[in-house]
Amino acid sequence: MTVRENRMTRRDYLKLMGTSGTLAAAVGATSACTSAQKPAPKQAPTEEAPGEPASAIADRARRMKWWHAAKFGMFIHFGLYALIGQHEWAMELEGIPIPQYELLAKHFIPKPGFAREWAGLAKQAGQKYMVMTTKHHEGFCNFNTKLTNYCAPQQACGRDLVKEYVEAARAEGLRVGFYYSLMDWHHPDGALCATNEAARRRFVAYTHGLIRELMTNYGKVDILWYDVDWPLTPEGWESKKMNDMVFTLQPDIIVNNRNGLLGDFSTPEQHVQASEKGRAWETCMTINDSWGYQKADDDFKSPKTIVRDLVECARGGGNFLLNVGPKPDGSVPEEEVRVLEAVGKWMGKNGPTIYEAERCQAGATNYANFTRKGNTLYIHVHFWPGDTAAANWLSFFRPQTVVAIGGLQTKVLSAKLFASGKKVDFRQDDISVQFAGLPANAPDDPVTVIEAECESEPVVNSLYVREHRERIKVGVSWS
Ligand code: GLC
Repeated sequence: MTVRENRMTRRDYLKLMGTSGTLAAAVGATSACTSAQKPAPKQAPTEEAPGEPASAIADRARRMKWWHAAKFGMFIHFGLYALIGQHEWAMELEGIPIPQYELLAKHFIPKPGFAREWAGLAKQAGQKYMVMTTKHHEGFCNFNTKLTNYCAPQQACGRDLVKEYVEAARAEGLRVGFYYSLMDWHHPDGALCATNEAARRRFVAYTHGLIRELMTNYGKVDILWYDVDWPLTPEGWESKKMNDMVFTLQPDIIVNNRNGLLGDFSTPEQHVQASEKGRAWETCMTINDSWGYQKADDDFKSPKTIVRDLVECARGGGNFLLNVGPKPDGSVPEEEVRVLEAVGKWMGKNGPTIYEAERCQAGATNYANFTRKGNTLYIHVHFWPGDTAAANWLSFFRPQTVVAIGGLQTKVLSAKLFASGKKVDFRQDDISVQFAGLPANAPDDPVTVIEAECESEPVVNSLYVREHRERIKVGVSWS
């Protein structure tokens, strides 16, 4: 396939997508709110573009191969808002006057080597890529630009923070993503563009110009992560032209769906929701309740919650982009570091049950969830069973400890504890498989993985037990 053919098909594809006004409205409505204000999440249509040429589908598969395998990334919200320490929406939600907000640029001077700390932490956590805010809604650019002096290199900081980030990510072998907010609360045309054509033209030129710089000045960029397309439609943003430019400058890049077009993947926010089969998706989520640094936010998720979310993403064939909100000096808050280190410890042992996982039909049970590769089922036990008095009376629960799955539609051939490789005994009939004689305490923390090699692709029919279990009589069956 030639490059030229690729471009043609992409253009055709984007043309098709550009007509999707409903999608634009849905995406805009979802992303233009803080989580507190958020209405019921709306998802972009999930199917491949109707009539999308096979070559475009193949090209996307080529560009996204590494991303599908990677599964786990680090999101970083870093900008002037870190100095206030009250979430990245402070400027708007508190109505801070622009001339005052701009003063923050005189004090935003992250410590040297901050990005190396991020990249080291991401690597340690088992994350394979990073996505940093190059410009958030506040309008301040963390990178050098010819289009505004409201940027880190031309203010007190005097350094290109995006460059430092790119170098740090690459040094750790991590893929590089750029978050870019289309919505801009600082630019004089950022709102006016909705009602004034001259302002729209100026603002679109500015926006495309900044994106062009980002796509030109930092070598290979792996992901462009657009955000909030308020207040324009994809036609107004000239999103098709935007993506064409991006793909011309970065032929291997992948882009999300938040410039009003379908892009390469959907972006459920603060919840895990798989797209239809065939449509790539990535859940983005905060570790506490804030994207940007919020000093008093102590509502941290536990490592168990994070691992469970990651498993649920991998189960649905999706990715998990977990956010950190660094302090003004660029250091990641200690609690976030602790969570990431614990997750990393788990990934160090259990990563292969996540990376490259394929979509898995089996869904969470009373104490476990699943991932899958081919015919191998990984049973992720987050609430370790056993120590049940019922084992005194019910042979089903003996020898303790028993992990059981009802309704599995395939034969298990062998089983072991994934992390230690220790063989696990099991028995199976058409109703249930029981892995028995497991340790009394969960061998791993926060989630223990049992690997079950199956005869065919593991599928659980959740109604099978209900419909097919042998029912004996009204009243107890032993009398
Ligand atoms: C929302 C928020 C924004 C955050 C983004 C992350 O769109 O407005 O602050 O960057 O979610 O997905």
